[in-house]
Amino acid sequence: MRAKIAGIGHYVPENVVTNEDLTKYMDTSDEWIQERTGIKERRYATKHKETTTTMAAIAAKKAIEMAGISPEDVDFIIFATLSPDYYFPGCGVLLQRALGITKTEIGALDIRNQCSGFVYGLSVADQFVKTGMYKNVLMVGSEMHSAGLEFNTQGRGVSVIFGDGAGAVILQPTQDENEGILTSALHSDGTSAEELAVYSPGCHGGIHLPDVDFGFEETDAPGEIFANQTLLEKGHMYPHMNGQAVFKKAVVKFPEVIMETLANINASPADIDMLIPHQANLRIAQFVQRTLKLPNEKVFNNIQKYGNTTAASIPIALSEAYEAGKIKKGDLVCLAAFGSGFTWGSTLIRWS
Ligand code: ACO
Repeated sequence: MRAKIAGIGHYVPENVVTNEDLTKYMDTSDEWIQERTGIKERRYATKHKETTTTMAAIAAKKAIEMAGISPEDVDFIIFATLSPDYYFPGCGVLLQRALGITKTEIGALDIRNQCSGFVYGLSVADQFVKTGMYKNVLMVGSEMHSAGLEFNTQGRGVSVIFGDGAGAVILQPTQDENEGILTSALHSDGTSAEELAVYSPGCHGGIHLPDVDFGFEETDAPGEIFANQTLLEKGHMYPHMNGQAVFKKAVVKFPEVIMETLANINASPADIDMLIPHQANLRIAQFVQRTLKLPNEKVFNNIQKYGNTTAASIPIALSEAYEAGKIKKGDLVCLAAFGSGFTWGSTLIRWS
């Protein structure tokens, strides 16, 4: 038994924010952003109307419809995001409610693997379907970054990169050995965890710990395990990113993990029909493309229009590539992601 993608859908908000628009709030330029990242514009959700969950619900409904099922047929939800509506509960249950899945009391799991959240979640969904535990798993990646970025010159290294949107798939079982998820590889390296992180709210310290004294030994100084003491002391709640450290590791780990999944099925880069890399940065995707010697028509990028939508980037790109007729039945589709943690992974799918 394998798991196949039986339905797919995506949603991006209507509001287009160009690089030029950002210059109103920070010292940046269209030229700088395009040259370093490839991004021309991104979408921002409408404040007080849209959230990570509402966007996910629209994408999920499209995937559910394409799979030919109804929301009540979904028997498990997996939700990947780093920008949830609430700190807790996670968006999984909020999506369940938004879809009107009230009778069946299905399980909902929240995944916190940032940019590789969709690939990690897909692998979890794959195991549930392969073992026969569930027949219709809804896997969603959705982000509303615009609610948590630092819109000033101090935050420009991060804020210009990220955008909002959602993508969803329905996974179903198949007995056909010529379709479905073939293999996945998942990795992490926590030694650089603070190089791409939002530190607060969190129990590491900073401004969020309650000021109470129960008489046991305590210290006000952040512990040694925390790398960026200045930001931690401030209880910094905006994303911190060491862009060059991310870039250097990403360009090594992307090709490495893709080669690992290809080796799992005795294939080579030339066998890939479509590579959907996490839309982190166009320069990273182009580097991976060159390393694997893939022609332009075998790599799908849309970061130019949407920026980096983290856990949503792969399902949005996959959905767009499918809608554009760039992925056909029988194609070998490769998904690959790298992000905060650091965590990374890849999945190979024989498209059905
Ligand atoms: N506009 C103008 N200038 C800027 C901006 C901006 N938006 N951001 C930073 N700068 C300035 C810096 O202040 C610095 O100025 P200085 O030389 O006077 O100090 C200069 O530009 C160079 O800054 P660097 O950070 O060294 O720029 P770099 O060439 O590394 O590019 C970038 C930054 C685009 C973030 C790059 O490092 C990168 O792409 N890294 C990968 C990051 C990434 O892909 N993250 C997402 C993946 S992980 C995930 O998806 C969660």
